Amino acid sequence: MESTTVTAAAAGTWKLGDLEVNRIGFGAMRLTGNGMRGNSDGAPIDRDLAVGVLRSAVEYGVNHIDTAAFYFSPSRSANELINRALAPYPDGLVIVTKVGPGRDPSGEWLPMARPEQLRGQVEENLRQLGRDHLDVVNLRWTGGVSIAEHFGALAELREAGLIRHLGLSAVKPEHLTEAQAIAPVVCVQNSYGLDRRLADTNGLLDSCRRQGIAFVPFFAISGRQREAPADDAHDDRLHAVARAQGATPAQVRVAWTLHRGPNVLAIPGTSDPAHLAENIAAGALRLSPADLDLLEPWR
Ligand SMILES: NC(=O)c1ccc[n+]([C@@H]2O[C@H](COP(=O)([O-])OP(=O)(O)OC[C@H]3O[C@@H](n4cnc5c(N)ncnc54)[C@H](OP(=O)(O)O)[C@@H]3O)[C@@H](O)[C@H]2O)c1
Repeated sequence: MESTTVTAAAAGTWKLGDLEVNRIGFGAMRLTGNGMRGNSDGAPIDRDLAVGVLRSAVEYGVNHIDTAAFYFSPSRSANELINRALAPYPDGLVIVTKVGPGRDPSGEWLPMARPEQLRGQVEENLRQLGRDHLDVVNLRWTGGVSIAEHFGALAELREAGLIRHLGLSAVKPEHLTEAQAIAPVVCVQNSYGLDRRLADTNGLLDSCRRQGIAFVPFFAISGRQREAPADDAHDDRLHAVARAQGATPAQVRVAWTLHRGPNVLAIPGTSDPAHLAENIAAGALRLSPADLDLLEPWR
């Protein structure tokens, strides 16, 4: 699919609370190079390249960027790169971050933050991004059955004006219900894609759609590879749809998520300018009923 003329608005827009965003956004996790697992093997990503990718994304119309303070490698931090590339931030740019997990300065993962530690994590994001409040903060859940104390702590920070809107990540439907009894939820960010459909089977995607909550898949391209680089091996059915659309398999993966509902927002992650252009162009793909049928039984 031709990538030069399409903008991030090609798939339309959605509102995160009062903040309107284009449905094609950008995930910043891949900009830090490797090191997300706390190791330091391999070369860091070139800083100018990363800054260039972020600036290009905004030029394509991306106004929804996903990040986290814990997205860092030994010498690169996603928040630092966003700040360097985009501050002073353009009007309408929505930066979504997440708290809960944390890493020590050497990159080792820490236990899930206690509720009273979330303020410090929010403030860390404020400092790194150079902002006085955060547009959207997701509680990225790795804890036990109840999120109430943690979400309650974030709701207090929202009341205090540090956060505009709240979301959830890596949650089950019952977590959404629990959170909504405490404060409004504008988005749910979970692992989801052609070959990862838990949000279909547990009804979370439907529930978000019915309630006007954004559903934001991660690993939509990388799928079962998760944080590892996406691989080139794709199912024949995906290749067939890609050929029919004149698109790449990665573009079809992104487009498929967007076809799951008007509330689905894509945040594909890349450090490759050509892939960025392809991912923006994926928003203009219109999969036919035959394409969708072919992809439907995928597991
Ligand atoms: N809430 C959470 O727990 C959570 C967890 C993980 C991620 N996230 C967020 O979600 C975002 C998306 O997830 P992700 O970055 O892990 O996975 P992804 O977007 O599904 O896939 C990224 C992988 O696909 C490759 N890729 C991207 N565009 C491509 C294209 N057009 N053609 C071929 N390969 C392409 C990237 O490599 P190249 O760099 O070579 O393009 C990278 O290996 C992250 O950036 C992060 O902001 C959230």
